[in-house]
Amino acid sequence: MSQHLLAPITLRDLTVRNRIWVPPMCQYSVAAGDGVATDYHLMHYGSFARGGAGAVILEATGVVPEGRIAPQDLGLWDDAQREALRPIVDLIHSFGAAAGIQLAHAGRKASTEPEWGTPHPGASLAGADGGWETVAPSAIAYDQLTEPTALDEAGIDEVVEAFVASAVRAVEAGFDLIEIHAAHGYLLHEFLSPLSNQRTDSYGGELAGRARLLLRVVDAVRGAVPVGMPLLVRISATEWVEGGFDLDQATQVVTWLGEHGVDMVDVSSGGNAVLPEGAEIPVGPGYQTPLAAHLREHTEMPVSAVGMLDTPFQAEHVLATGQADVVRVGRAFLREPNWGLDAALALRGDGEIVPPQYRRAFRQALRRG
Ligand SMILES: Cc1cc2nc3c(=O)[nH]c(=O)nc-3n(C[C@H](O)[C@H](O)[C@H](O)COP(=O)(O)O)c2cc1C
Repeated sequence: MSQHLLAPITLRDLTVRNRIWVPPMCQYSVAAGDGVATDYHLMHYGSFARGGAGAVILEATGVVPEGRIAPQDLGLWDDAQREALRPIVDLIHSFGAAAGIQLAHAGRKASTEPEWGTPHPGASLAGADGGWETVAPSAIAYDQLTEPTALDEAGIDEVVEAFVASAVRAVEAGFDLIEIHAAHGYLLHEFLSPLSNQRTDSYGGELAGRARLLLRVVDAVRGAVPVGMPLLVRISATEWVEGGFDLDQATQVVTWLGEHGVDMVDVSSGGNAVLPEGAEIPVGPGYQTPLAAHLREHTEMPVSAVGMLDTPFQAEHVLATGQADVVRVGRAFLREPNWGLDAALALRGDGEIVPPQYRRAFRQALRRG
């Protein structure tokens, strides 16, 4: 059987063992609020590598404290955070997977209460509870969240510097790839979108202005990490609303990202606009895959597809039909951390991916293979 999902892929100097990648998923599990990873993160991320993922990309990690979605997010603005990530990288490597990290600034969607254990999950965190002032391209609030302050030029420079400093720490911690978060309504996406970016300076206006900060971050990070290290960007290829950032604009931005040394774009959607009454995002199996396929077809950029690609055959189909180069599997991996092993065996891989300690549990499947 042809096995696109199990085929290795090479980006720059990195060869990843297969095309089953785990996307970043916030865990809101830094109870101390200091951005430092804990045993929880070691266990959580290690399990996906043991479970057959090709690459495991750590959750949105704040490049500055005020860039966290919630105080319980990981951070990478200091060296203690870097040291706590090292064992996670080593554990992922020990199972043969590549380790990635998503560097993020949450912009106007920062400083919120985490999804559980608080009175108002997702709402702006009050100052008295440790909340902080948020920043954005323009002073326009997202939905019910607190109104942000528009970044000035010096603030923009600081954002670029913070991404670079975190990227350097990520390299020092041993990560194989870095992903810049420019999706889901967080800071870099807010700059891209005409709905959230109403600046009149060189960071706003036409698409080239709105994309300027993202390209600055890309250039600065690209220049600071080893030439052989892949740099990825995650985008929301559409906001699903009239007048928002859409697939045509995304196609142009992805072309620019390629010219600026980005090696792969992950194609997600939404997160920056509240849909009008009655409108709905067409959520369903593979609902974002056509966006990835469009970008793959109309640019030179390798892409990963994500979003309800929950079964091995569905994921294999996406690759076999040329719609993407990699498939990311998120919630299905949370449900079943051995998703990659099951996929490898379902697609009749050779079973090598099953760690020796687990082979007795997979014996029947291995014989069938
Ligand atoms: C618990 C959870 C946390 C998430 N956190 C992030 C994140 O940190 N960064 C990000 O870009 N996307 C995040 N996402 C989105 C996922 O990366 C992924 O795109 C989404 O879950 C769709 O893929 P799936 O259907 O395979 O789960 C999160 C999703 C979930 C379920």
